[in-house]
Amino acid sequence: MKKLLLMLSILLVAPACAGKPTPIPEPESAGGKLFAEKCGICHSVPHPKRNTFEQWQSLMVLMQEQRLHRKMEPLTDDERKVIMRYLQRNAR
Ligand code: HEC
Repeated sequence: MKKLLLMLSILLVAPACAGKPTPIPEPESAGGKLFAEKCGICHSVPHPKRNTFEQWQSLMVLMQEQRLHRKMEPLTDDERKVIMRYLQRNAR
């Protein structure tokens, strides 16, 4: 019986975490929205806590280059500032 309960709880819990990324902080803020919108185009939206703010600063440069590779306009200064402020508040 114990085993059955264990199986059941695994079955019930597993689908909830399968493939669903951890929700990002402040999803309703301007920064959170822009981050989710601009950083989930080529891959899933990364969690701010996966990096320190210093790491995000250089990653943002790399991602601007990725946009250029794909013939996309780079983020505007304003967009970059809003995202950087968001990352400053929420980075590791
Ligand atoms: C034009 C496509 C594109 C956009 C838009 C984009 N990325 Fe990326 N991103 C990539 C590619 C391609 C890689 C994998 C290449 C690599 O790791 O150098 C990547 C990798 C990453 C990684 C993993 C890198 C590592 O070494 O851990 C992070 C984190 C990341 N992107 C964050 C962002 C953020 C934040 C934004 C929004 C500002 C963003 N990306 C927007 C294309 C994009």
